[in-house]
Amino acid sequence: MKALVLSGGSGTRLRPLSHTIPKQLVPVANKPVLAYGLEAIRDAGITEVGLVVGDRMADIREAVGDGERFGLKVTYIPQSAPLGLAHAVVIARDFLGDDDFLMYLGDNIVLDGVTELVEGFRARPCDAQVTVHHADPREGGLAVLDADGRVLRVEEKPKHPTGDLALMGMYVFTPVIHEAVRAISPSPRGELEITDAIGWLVQAGHDVRGHLYEGFWQDAGLIETLLESNQAVLDCLGSRIAGKVDDETEVIGRVIIEEQATVTRSRLVGPLVIGAGSIIDGSYVGPYSSVGEQCVIEDATVEYSIVMDRVAIRDVRGVYGSVIGTGTSVRAGSAGRAGSGRGGHRLILGENSQISLV
Ligand code: DAU
Repeated sequence: MKALVLSGGSGTRLRPLSHTIPKQLVPVANKPVLAYGLEAIRDAGITEVGLVVGDRMADIREAVGDGERFGLKVTYIPQSAPLGLAHAVVIARDFLGDDDFLMYLGDNIVLDGVTELVEGFRARPCDAQVTVHHADPREGGLAVLDADGRVLRVEEKPKHPTGDLALMGMYVFTPVIHEAVRAISPSPRGELEITDAIGWLVQAGHDVRGHLYEGFWQDAGLIETLLESNQAVLDCLGSRIAGKVDDETEVIGRVIIEEQATVTRSRLVGPLVIGAGSIIDGSYVGPYSSVGEQCVIEDATVEYSIVMDRVAIRDVRGVYGSVIGTGTSVRAGSAGRAGSGRGGHRLILGENSQISLV
């Protein structure tokens, strides 16, 4: 079995971050979203991966390379424009040949991996298998299954869903999907929808089945779901202190401090991660915070936030629920110290932003 990983798209729902970083490379617990998918694919024993990329191909290529660092062999499949998930299957035809394949949407995070759903397909082969989760289907797709797990109906972005099973971004297809993706027409949003191709298979009488996934899953394509993913991943990590922590610092809960990071006169309450080379001084870093590499946090408080590499936060209290892009500087304005720690600041800042708060 091969894998087809979709890493193109426009990422409009993650602006302003996605202006400078493809949404699949936004870090969750200091690791790009896409890496979770690639690792899950490798853990399922699949090695040949076709990676569909759009205009951010250079960034994705820098992060993934030829796939060796993930134990994979990656072939890049450039997509001229985000014309839809089924369009990605159309352009991957040569790569896929007549093999069965796992299609994985590169902005999805699953903490229990994909091994079970791949094995489920192998144990009970069918023409196509979708993965479903008990969740609100309105942001994505809806699947309606019979008692035996056979898919009766699918619908993309249903306004009035007639069920509570959401389609996840993991599908197992046999070559019959190639007929379906050629048979459908673009949806009202102008995309060739994989959901329509699956609907076409159902209508044509093919055996399409649903695999119920019960672990943590998120489509990390929105700020809220990104922060929730960060929380869920941090909840699974242990403690490791490789950097330096002085005697005046209090460390509570599960905390990871990477090499060459230094923490002085501070309070750290996990779960959290502080990336390599970062400096935390006179600050409180609270639960569900991921601080990237080479950051400086001085006389500040940060909680439930993703702080990317080379960010400086100085003299600012109450940074909460924030996603702060690489190279950004957040500091107090001329008044000295900003925020009380109670009200808080929600900051969603793209790369290299400069912001002073009063
Ligand atoms: O996350 C699950 C949902 O993913 C499903 O519930 C929906 O049925 C399915 O259509 C899809 O919906 P989204 O609207 O969330 O898809 P999105 O546009 O975010 O694209 C998913 C991934 O595929 C993302 O990594 C970008 C990539 N992509 C997207 C398009 C439209 C491509 O590589 N090429 C494309 O043309």
